[in-house]
Amino acid sequence: MENRNAALIEKILNFKKRRDAIILAHNYQLGEIQDIADFVGDSLELSQNAARTDASVIVFCGVHFMAETAAILCPDKTVLLPDINAGCPMADMIDAERLKQKKKEHPNAAVVCYINSSAEVKAESDICCTSANTVKVVESLAAEEILFIPDQYLGHYASTKTDKKIILWPGFCPTHARIRPEDIIKLKQEYPKAKVAVHPECKPEVIALADEVLSTGGIIGLARRAEIEEMIVGTEMGIIHRLKKENPGKRFISVSEQAVCPNMKLITLEKVLWSLEEMAPEVKVPEEIRSKARVSVDKMLEVS
Ligand code: 13P
Ligand code: SF4
Repeated sequence: MENRNAALIEKILNFKKRRDAIILAHNYQLGEIQDIADFVGDSLELSQNAARTDASVIVFCGVHFMAETAAILCPDKTVLLPDINAGCPMADMIDAERLKQKKKEHPNAAVVCYINSSAEVKAESDICCTSANTVKVVESLAAEEILFIPDQYLGHYASTKTDKKIILWPGFCPTHARIRPEDIIKLKQEYPKAKVAVHPECKPEVIALADEVLSTGGIIGLARRAEIEEMIVGTEMGIIHRLKKENPGKRFISVSEQAVCPNMKLITLEKVLWSLEEMAPEVKVPEEIRSKARVSVDKMLEVS
């Protein structure tokens, strides 16, 4: 396995040079993918990196909406998603038609769209946000009424941090829904000194037990702090690889072995190599949608 991976990695690095490519990977990717990436980060950091890279090709190791956001920001680059079936079930819980209907019901509301959404949905929204900047984005708007899509739990969390009226859409992340308060209570008894850090896609009863509610990038940053020795981590398990790698000697405990995003795990070393060899599958956004979606993404990047 080690040898096989070493051979694959060598080929990937050669092809990467030949194609003038950069590899971006989300914090939930398999460890071996994180280890070959030029940059590993959360959704906001990855879109900021995509926006500023000089490379001609972006190999996006993440899920479809992330690669699509890179394509929205970089129309002149080739954006590859090594497995085109790597989607996000939460992003699929809304579409542009249903959003248009909902907007008619709330004509005075500004639409804040979580980045976990399609380009068509972004194009129908006023501004995007990620888990790293939700409250900042909501507070940046003049409107007092916000239609928050599609994550009801992130929207609910934002509603506890603002005086604005937040209208929720009933979307959710099936992976974060598996993180249960009873598991955190048990782990807190076992590790009483550990800090509890959870992702804002978790349910409110989980968030109520947390010391910190952070994006995956925020959790990585918190773990680096000197006073942190043990952390109970309430998000997708892939983040544990990076936490351990960057902080030897510290202890990281995942709340649930069930918190796995199967879509994130579809990207493998073999598929990264194939995508560089074949320059496929490519993620493209039709120009009329891309230019509208770009306005929502740019507004978010200005606020961040
Ligand atoms: P982050 O932006 O915090 O990395 O979250 C992305 C995501 O899909 C969480 O499930
Ligand atoms: Fe989507 Fe949840 Fe997977 Fe994140 S963890 S990509 S929100 S399904």
